[in-house]
Amino acid sequence: MSKIISGKEVSAQVREQVRKECEELKAKGVDPGLAVIIVGDDPASRVYVNNKKKACADVGFVSEEYALPAETTQEELLALIDTLNSKPSVNGILCQLPLPEHLDEKAVINAISPLKDVDAFHPSNVGRIMIGDYHFLPCTPAGVMELIHSAGIEVSGKSCVVIGRSNIVGKPMAMLLLHENGTVTICHSRTKNLTEICREADILVAAVGRPKFVTGDMVKEGAAVLDVGINRDENGKLCGDVDFESVEPKAGFITPVPGGVGPMTIAMLMKNTLKAAKLQNGMD
Ligand code: GUN
Repeated sequence: MSKIISGKEVSAQVREQVRKECEELKAKGVDPGLAVIIVGDDPASRVYVNNKKKACADVGFVSEEYALPAETTQEELLALIDTLNSKPSVNGILCQLPLPEHLDEKAVINAISPLKDVDAFHPSNVGRIMIGDYHFLPCTPAGVMELIHSAGIEVSGKSCVVIGRSNIVGKPMAMLLLHENGTVTICHSRTKNLTEICREADILVAAVGRPKFVTGDMVKEGAAVLDVGINRDENGKLCGDVDFESVEPKAGFITPVPGGVGPMTIAMLMKNTLKAAKLQNGMD
């Protein structure tokens, strides 16, 4: 039997802490605000953006939504970011990805002021993470770390395997585990002997984007398994990158989907927005 780590519970604690600190900031005349940009009408992006706005209201932040049509030009989008960069009431700027194909995602990320980049996607923030001197951590990997800490799992000296090498999750995830003295291996689609490598892991993070990819035979007895995936299975039911049924009996710790890493991502976004408001007001 493994211990299920509840992202629902841990994210509620993080949000409660943010709510408390937000009240303290408001008492000092600072009213934290997040601007969320969505371009086009991707249904998944719409759900994510609505959840982010709800979370803002819940912790006491002001949120502004900028819903732009799919045919928005690069110049129009960059002009909006420019305006938000210089707007004092906006502390954080988040442009929901993916963008429609004609838009240059890299240029958009580069245009957001690093001090308002609450996703921590800007190259300057990515570089800061690399050297361990950062303002913001990317929300999903930071949420995974928070879950690891909440379960009292020690990272130092442990064998950590991250499956997936995206800029948003896999690479920063590996870096955060390394900062805590884990011995980290990053696996990807070209990795040979994936099963053998995963079976060595004390801490296994799955960020592949394939439903139920990690099965029981890939997991060491007693390992901590953190599932970043949000997929649909063959019946259209929400599932992670981990085959919960076969992995749960072997794992020492496991995160469910839904209710695991997902709610943490938004909680960490709230934490970053609070931090941005403090930074911009000389309070951090
Ligand atoms: N699309 C999927 N995940 C994310 C995220 O964390 N931030 C942004 N901006 N877009 C996303």
